[in-house]
Amino acid sequence: STGRYQVCCIGAGYVGGPTMAVVAKMCPKIDVTVVDISQRRIDAWNSQQDSELPIYEPGLKEAVLNTRGKNLFFSTDVDGAIERANMIFVAVNTPTKKDGLGAGRAADLTYWELAARRIAKIAKSPKIVVEKSTVPIRTAEAISTVLNASGTTKFQILSNPEFLAEGTAMRDLENPDRILIGGNLKDEDGIQAIGELVDIYSHWVPKEKIITTNVWSSELSKLVANFFLAQRVSSINAVSALCESSGADVDEVSMAVGMDSRIGSKFLKASVGFGGSCFQKDILNLVYLSESMGLKEIAEYFHWVVRMNDLQKDRFVSRIIHGLFNTVTGKRIAILGFSFKKDTGDTRESAAISVCQRLVDERANLAIYDPKVQEAQIWQDITAASRMDRLELERLVHISSNPYEASQGSHALVVCTEWDEFRDLNFEKILGIMEKPAFIFDGRNVLNHEHLRKLGFVVYAIGKPLDPRLNVV
Ligand code: NAI
Repeated sequence: STGRYQVCCIGAGYVGGPTMAVVAKMCPKIDVTVVDISQRRIDAWNSQQDSELPIYEPGLKEAVLNTRGKNLFFSTDVDGAIERANMIFVAVNTPTKKDGLGAGRAADLTYWELAARRIAKIAKSPKIVVEKSTVPIRTAEAISTVLNASGTTKFQILSNPEFLAEGTAMRDLENPDRILIGGNLKDEDGIQAIGELVDIYSHWVPKEKIITTNVWSSELSKLVANFFLAQRVSSINAVSALCESSGADVDEVSMAVGMDSRIGSKFLKASVGFGGSCFQKDILNLVYLSESMGLKEIAEYFHWVVRMNDLQKDRFVSRIIHGLFNTVTGKRIAILGFSFKKDTGDTRESAAISVCQRLVDERANLAIYDPKVQEAQIWQDITAASRMDRLELERLVHISSNPYEASQGSHALVVCTEWDEFRDLNFEKILGIMEKPAFIFDGRNVLNHEHLRKLGFVVYAIGKPLDPRLNVV
């Protein structure tokens, strides 16, 4: 042993990787080992070609390159890292259950429990286990039971949910709004464990931003925070439908409403819908929790946030189909953006997947372009979402290497992700290579619609007064 404080993180994904890179960067005296069962992921984290890190986040590459091999290590030796660790973060995936009890709603805690059982089996000295994954309330308690069942080694369980947003992960981690730590505040060892975690964050987070609560409040707060964020998106999206029918402009409404300091202006941008691995999953988790507590109406209230999001995607696709004279069969449509938001290559629950799946169902020909998402990922997502097999899909779907190639011969451009580069495209050139009338469906309201209309495009934008040339039913 080196005598240095040892931190281990189980799960080298979107949370484990960036979080631990920041801990390593901010705490040079602490050794941080990130482990994963996926050899491929670990190899990618250790890759010498910095373009090959498994995830893309602005600033991540630099942080990893500056610490890797010094006090940041990536490894598949899960057991070795557990054995050495003083503190173990668990940042494994907790997706929505696909089958069985609570399917489609409850969180799948298989990976979490496997990690916990591994810790219980391997650990020979007392450990602090930190719940970083988003989990249902009372998970820490259950995990504590599993860990302390053998009675030989003592474990303290803390809840420390992660609030980073993909695309701004490094900024969020380095300058968080708050750090939330849930632990057993009534117990000597609990207080000691909380103290050790506070010490780590205190290297760079002001003390007043580090808050401690009981475990259940901490676990629930993460789910509730995501509910509030998603709720704002669904609320403004509901308003966007009203705007289109009334001639109001959703951006104007959102500005007017958001200037009320009690409401605030963030997360009030209408769009084709939210995506990402967390919002839907965490809300469904709340729905499931409420249902299992017999709170049926409360479950329904939460559930409407997800349903509104699905309706918004449906509404957007309907606008495309009706706009293109009620048929898209055999028509080429350029899809601009495939990730669930800009500045990330993550496609989990991306609105683009649903939009593409619905258009493919109509037998449209798609030309998909995204600046960051790998081609193989797009195929995997489309194949998983569609009823058709890969061979059938290959006749309809084409992955483009740039937006101009995607636009070539298209009847419509459909913006699914708000990548900055889409604002600066040469739309005169694009108009020239498209079929006429040339349509643009801006699912993120990022383009200059007046300018595009002057050029000759028929433009649909979410929650904006409808283009008189757009066919509506
Ligand atoms: P991810 O899927 O990117 O990463 C999870 C990793 O854990 C995978 O690489 C997987 O191979 C590994 N893993 C699973 N079981 C394991 C085991 N028993 N031993 C070792 N490794 C194992 O997931 P992501 O996005 O990092 O999410 C992790 C958790 O953090 C989830 O609970 C999520 O809800 C939460 N979260 C995610 C945020 C995000 O923006 N992605 C933000 C805040 C929280």
